[in-house]
Amino acid sequence: MTIAIAPLHTLFGARLDGVHLKRDRSEPVMAAIEAAMDIYAVCALPGQNLSDDEQLAVSELLGDLSRALNPGRSKTQAARLRSELYDISNLDENHGILAEQDRRRQWRESDKLWHTDRSFIAAETTYSLLSGRLVPPEGGDTGFADMRAVYDDLPEATKRKIENLHCEHSVWHSRALCGGKDFRADEIAAMPPVVQPMVRVHPRTGRKSIVLASHASHILGWPADESRAFLDELMAFATQPQYTFYYRWSAGDLVIWDNRCTMHRGTQFDDKMYKRDMRRTTVQGAAKYARAAA
Ligand code: OGA
Ligand code: MN
Repeated sequence: MTIAIAPLHTLFGARLDGVHLKRDRSEPVMAAIEAAMDIYAVCALPGQNLSDDEQLAVSELLGDLSRALNPGRSKTQAARLRSELYDISNLDENHGILAEQDRRRQWRESDKLWHTDRSFIAAETTYSLLSGRLVPPEGGDTGFADMRAVYDDLPEATKRKIENLHCEHSVWHSRALCGGKDFRADEIAAMPPVVQPMVRVHPRTGRKSIVLASHASHILGWPADESRAFLDELMAFATQPQYTFYYRWSAGDLVIWDNRCTMHRGTQFDDKMYKRDMRRTTVQGAAKYARAAA
C-alpha cells in the first residue's frame, strides 16, 4: 500500500491517492486515513465509486453510524435512501429532481450556511463521509473552514473571552434562517436544542478549535443582541479566505471531514436543471481498529 498525500490548502485539506476502499479496507489503510485526518481534517479520496453497502462498511470502521433523524419530508413522502445514509441530494423518492415547492429544498438551502454536522445533537459527531454519486457540471462545490487555525489566530483576549462560554445549537434555528417555518411538533420534539462549548479540544490531537455553526442561536447568559453580534463577528473571522477552500467534485469522489475541528457549506448550482446525488454517512465514537487496540 502506497498512499500519496497532496495538500489542498496551506493549512488543511488533502487529497489521498492510492486508497481503493472498494477492495481494501484493512486496518493499515483505515489507520492511515485517520492519521491523515488528524493532520488535514478534510481528506478527499477521488475515484472510490462506492456503493451504499461499501460506503456503510467504510464508515462503520471509523465509528458508530448515526441515523438521519429528519430529512424534511412530509409524512406521506417515502425516504429515497435507508436511514443510515443522509440524503444530501436534490432528488425525490423516485430519483427525480425535487419539485419547486418541496419542503426538502429548505434543508439543502440551510446546508449552504457554514455549519458542522449534527452540532445540534448532544453526542459528539466525529466524521462525515460524503460520497458524490452524481455531480453537476458546474457549481455545487463544498466549502471547508479550518477551525483549529481560526482558534490559533484569535486575539488572546478573544480566546480568554470564549474559553468558558457555551452556545445553544438547534437545527430549527438554522432552518429558520433559510425561511423554514411551520415545523411539526413531532419534528421539534425529536431534535430539541443542545448546549455546546465554544472551545473544544480534539481528543486525538489535543488541538483546540472554536465551535461555531449556523445552528448556534445564542451564547448562554448573554443579552440576545450582544450574543448575535459576537457570533456574527466570529463567523466572519472564521470564514475568511485564508481559512477556507472549496472542493470541486467529480462523480465517485469520497470526502471525509472531521466535524470536531472544521465547518463546511454547500454552494449554489442549477438545482432545477441538474441532479446532484450526494450521500452522507456520519459517525461518532472511536474507530473500530482503535477500539480493538485500546
Ligand atoms: C453535508 C453538507 C454540503 C454539500 O453533506 O453535510 O453539508 O456540498 N453538504 O453537499
Ligand atoms: Mn453538512
